[in-house]
Amino acid sequence: MSVSDHLVIFDTTLRDGEQSPGASMTKAEKLRIAKTLEKMKVDVIEAGFAIASQGDFESVKAIAESIKDSRICSLARALDKDIDRAAEALKNANASRIHTFIATSPIHMQYKLQMQPDDVVEQAVKAVKRARNYTDDVEFSCEDAGRSELDFLCRIIEAAIDAGATTINIPDTVGYAIPRQFGILINDLIKNIPNADKAIFSVHCHNDLGLAVGNSLEAVLNGARQIECTINGLGERAGNASLEEVVMAVKTRQDLFNVNTQLDTTQIVPASRLVSTITGFPVQPNKAIVGANAFAHESGIHQDGILKKRETYEIMLAQDVGWHNNSLVLGKHSGRNAFKTRLQDLGITFDTETELNEAFTRFKDLADKKHEIFDEDLQALVSESRSQA
Ligand code: KIV
Ligand code: ZN
Repeated sequence: MSVSDHLVIFDTTLRDGEQSPGASMTKAEKLRIAKTLEKMKVDVIEAGFAIASQGDFESVKAIAESIKDSRICSLARALDKDIDRAAEALKNANASRIHTFIATSPIHMQYKLQMQPDDVVEQAVKAVKRARNYTDDVEFSCEDAGRSELDFLCRIIEAAIDAGATTINIPDTVGYAIPRQFGILINDLIKNIPNADKAIFSVHCHNDLGLAVGNSLEAVLNGARQIECTINGLGERAGNASLEEVVMAVKTRQDLFNVNTQLDTTQIVPASRLVSTITGFPVQPNKAIVGANAFAHESGIHQDGILKKRETYEIMLAQDVGWHNNSLVLGKHSGRNAFKTRLQDLGITFDTETELNEAFTRFKDLADKKHEIFDEDLQALVSESRSQA
């Protein structure tokens, strides 16, 4: 397999995202999100962890039965019973994937698994082979790869690919990596594993140090061709890489990445709103791409620039990610140009410059007392200054 220019977007909002404390979702809610992800043209939807509970099994099954255009995946530990359960939930899917994993870091193998490295490799191979009996699309993850030893990773990944894994996922499970180091890891793996060209390399970064998106993008620059991510960056602890940020970074900086996703990015804001409403997790106003302020401009200098040429202060089109348009928020930092333009939009014009200046002075006085000035405030302010003239 040669390194393609298609970047696979693997959404795990319904699995890792649901692992955010307090974010559990019903089957009906998960189906609504899955339909939105399908509409967005997400390549792979990780619908859940079929063995985790009866509810999770039912959700994976329902999603597998109703989604046709995205591949549906279930997580499974490297255990026969997990893989069989995942396969059962996925059996009616149009396109399915079993995602099996085992920990590979010294600390996880010694304390959590209490297994010898040789036995971990054997179990991984057995799991991949079992999963391949059900589907020809099998993903293998080295849990805690970010803290694993390179030689051991090379060994287990080579064996997993030989056993039939078609995607190899490198999770930074505890969000410990930094971009340069993570990029080198991906590059070293692809370079040193003899059969690396038989699989797509994927990354799954957690955000404990706020670096999940940066690490994922550095991995793409070093040959990764699948990013695992979630809407609004939802996920275990500090979350996962946020889908909207990785997708828009790759799209906006195509000059650097040379990869494309097939996503309909206009579905990003609707998906973000849906996930936020369902989980009850609000989106912070200054969140990139989907925060209420992501395309809002308050400073006079910026507003003036935007009115003259949008690109002076905007690197993306608000409409491209599903906003209706950008917004010039009127507040104490706003300038005369934005003030005048908003009034014109409201059908208010001035006969003289003096009249405009007086209204602008009143506006500044009000803005000193009030965070944001709404259209009604402007209308009141103008009629007041006209009645006093
Ligand atoms: O963070 C992690 O390591 C995971 C794996 C199961 C992929 O979520
Ligand atoms: Zn994870």
